[in-house]
Amino acid sequence: MNRARHIAIIMDGNGRWAQQRGMQRIKGHEKGAEVVRHITTFCANHDEVEVLTLYAFSTENWKRPKMEVDFLMRLLDNWLQKELPTYQKERVRFEVIGDISKFSKKLQERINLTRELTKNNTKLTQVLALNYGGRDEIIRACKRAKEANAPIDEANFEAFFDAQIGEVDMLIRTGGEKRISNFLLWRIAYAELFFTDTLWPDFTPEELASLIDEFKKRHRRFGGI
Ligand code: IPE
Ligand code: IPE
Ligand code: MG
Repeated sequence: MNRARHIAIIMDGNGRWAQQRGMQRIKGHEKGAEVVRHITTFCANHDEVEVLTLYAFSTENWKRPKMEVDFLMRLLDNWLQKELPTYQKERVRFEVIGDISKFSKKLQERINLTRELTKNNTKLTQVLALNYGGRDEIIRACKRAKEANAPIDEANFEAFFDAQIGEVDMLIRTGGEKRISNFLLWRIAYAELFFTDTLWPDFTPEELASLIDEFKKRHRRFGGI
């Protein structure tokens, strides 16, 4: 049976969710943040899931209006502060991939503090992809390997990535689009892909559970027969 050790999610559809309700896009991001808590708690209490990687802000999302970008940065800061008790209660370790040096000093401090305070939690590693691009991370890994003067092969390359979280088993995208949008390029080589029309603010642990059931039934061949 397939084991859903690492689940990665492209949390898409917040803006459309809000617009469908005649609200500003940022209201969708607020609702989406609540869903992150429910999905994280579900994964922390699931026997198989060890890593949950969530795409929260891409290297391309800076193209959005300043007001939306500023809102997302504030939301992240407040959210990390507010959710600390949940991380501790559910014993979730917080980790980040992406180039956070482009964020404000205050937000970087909040991110590093959350990482530090949760580093001994063992039920789940929740990885937020922040100012993340799959290409960007591969380039960073190449630079680190070069600096270390290390020989590169497929097995040791991951050691130079932003975090050692391993291959993705299930990649889920909500919001109906069928694309990768520069997420985790290296680690999804043999991931099973799932696309749902559900907008992220409407996504539930029940839907995730049914996707995991479908994943269990798939025949992963990894190039074999
Ligand atoms: C995903 O939802 C969240 C982020 C990119 C921060 P969107 O904001 O892309 O929502 P849609 O795709 O416009 O509905
Ligand atoms: C991908 O969603 C990024 C995140 C969910 C953070 P986008 O909404 O930015 O992707 P595109 O523009 O539809 O490809
Ligand atoms: Mg989108």
